[in-house]
Amino acid sequence: MSRSPMIVRTVPALRRTLDGLRARKATIALVPTMGALHDGHVSLVRLAKRRARKVIVSIFVNPAQFAPTEDFGSYPRTWKADVSKLAAEDVDLIWNPDVKVMYPEGFATRIVPEGPAIAGLEDRFRPHFFGGVATVVGKLFTQVRPDFAIFGEKDFQQLRVVAQMAGDLDLGVKVMGSRTVRERDGLAMSSRNVYLTSAERQVAPVLYRAMKESAQRLRAGDDVETAMAGGAELIANAGLVLDYFEARHAETLAPIAAAKDGPVRILVAARLGKTRLIDNIGV
Ligand code: PAF
Repeated sequence: MSRSPMIVRTVPALRRTLDGLRARKATIALVPTMGALHDGHVSLVRLAKRRARKVIVSIFVNPAQFAPTEDFGSYPRTWKADVSKLAAEDVDLIWNPDVKVMYPEGFATRIVPEGPAIAGLEDRFRPHFFGGVATVVGKLFTQVRPDFAIFGEKDFQQLRVVAQMAGDLDLGVKVMGSRTVRERDGLAMSSRNVYLTSAERQVAPVLYRAMKESAQRLRAGDDVETAMAGGAELIANAGLVLDYFEARHAETLAPIAAAKDGPVRILVAARLGKTRLIDNIGV
């Protein structure tokens, strides 16, 4: 039978609870989320449970990572369903601070990540994004002090940015990536998929098909330019507007010329109607 996770909303209450867990030598895994949980998040929780005795999921829609023109106000918020899903997974604690708890009046510190955060992918189109992510994840790590933190590979550049930050700042947490969970037709699960109309939903899996086609060409020995041109054409012909469709070094995210310069990751971002989709695969 599932038991409801403890829900904590203030930093002192979080500290007290965590001190108790640490006194009992419990290892702790953190799964940072913005809620609107789907099966992709559930797979992060399951990996966390395999790694640590106690699992904490944070649910916080972080205003610092949204530009004023983006969807902070309309971002899906599904609190009750989220709590039920986490209870079914036997999560121990939900860390659910209010914006004023995370960013109290007078808050004036921001982490400005470099390296993978300025690789010329998401950062080119959402220049505010990684500063906001690094700042909130830095706070989550210092609030929870987890042994492990689990992030989806779906946001591949974010995963690299957070891992770099945790290492650079000696935060003492092992950052782990978890494989992207896909719908049956290949579309990567995302909280933002609810924005797609049914016609757009039919078209969206073209991103996965295009990445697979380019990956196959790269493996067959095509140079990056030729291999990526085929996939980009598939996406454009399906009516999406590409922000980027690139093959990069999977660790540094630096541009590469051919598969032999890898390990290689193909990363894509494209707009379909009002929805911006991102995805990636290993080659
Ligand atoms: O990937 C997300 O959901 C968010 O960017 C994160 C890591 C929870 C930070 O707000």
